[in-house]
Amino acid sequence: MQTVQDAQALRAAIHGWHDKGQTVALVPTMGNLHAGHFSLVRLARERADRVVASVFVNPTQFGPNEDYARYPRTLTQDQAGLAEHGCDLLFAPEVATIYPYGAEYSVSVHVPQITEVLEGAHRPGHFDGVATVVAKLFNLVQPDLAVFGQKDYQQLKVIERMVRDLALPVKILGAPIQRAEDGLALSSRNQYLSPAEREMAPQIHQTLLLMQSLIGEGHACHAVELVAATRLERAGFVPDYTAIRRADDLGMPEAHARHGLVALIAARLGSTRLIDNLPLA
Ligand code: PAF
Repeated sequence: MQTVQDAQALRAAIHGWHDKGQTVALVPTMGNLHAGHFSLVRLARERADRVVASVFVNPTQFGPNEDYARYPRTLTQDQAGLAEHGCDLLFAPEVATIYPYGAEYSVSVHVPQITEVLEGAHRPGHFDGVATVVAKLFNLVQPDLAVFGQKDYQQLKVIERMVRDLALPVKILGAPIQRAEDGLALSSRNQYLSPAEREMAPQIHQTLLLMQSLIGEGHACHAVELVAATRLERAGFVPDYTAIRRADDLGMPEAHARHGLVALIAARLGSTRLIDNLPLA
């Protein structure tokens, strides 16, 4: 597996593949890779001739009090894992390659409406940073398809919308959430949890399953959201939201809607913020 840092070397490799008629899949990541990321690489491998992964801790998607500085950077380990999982090329750019005028003076991509709720409401500017870096990565890599994890459900929907609205020539694939045996969704941020918090963390998934069964029993969406928030609070979490939304656009569903729904949770456990979701039907 080749590792490149600059845009010229990246383009040379990709033009070579496209010239031979090979398709290219991109797996964008912020590194510190785990089994969840490798499942994205596997899906990319199945769907394209060549797989490019990017590792870039994107400064513009972190708020001022978030974990940009302490976000784990483990490039050597990531390289080994990607090579083992059949990645052809790792693109690991410097900040100046992605933001030649500096991150604060970058052109910014804003996807309206869907970015204003849930994660967007709790992390102002986050999705502008995500949409901007993903658009830049698409321009640099020019992939035929790109794979994103469904764990960041809202992110996936924002990117699908950006791609459609800007008519970007890339197909977006969502890959299923990978979970630990006890149900906790795999995430780079799980390593911030203390042993006691790690034991509590699967309650987020259990709460999503409870939401699913309450909706199945016919309870109103709003009542189910309240039950979920109370359950998490009693267990020692500070929930940012426990929400049931339309799966396609994250809008508010009818009170007794039963189809095309997704349950989403964001909650803090100590200083760690965890997110998870479950499609309901
Ligand atoms: O999901 C992530 O890891 C990031 O938000 C992404 C898509 C790589 C953009 O920085």
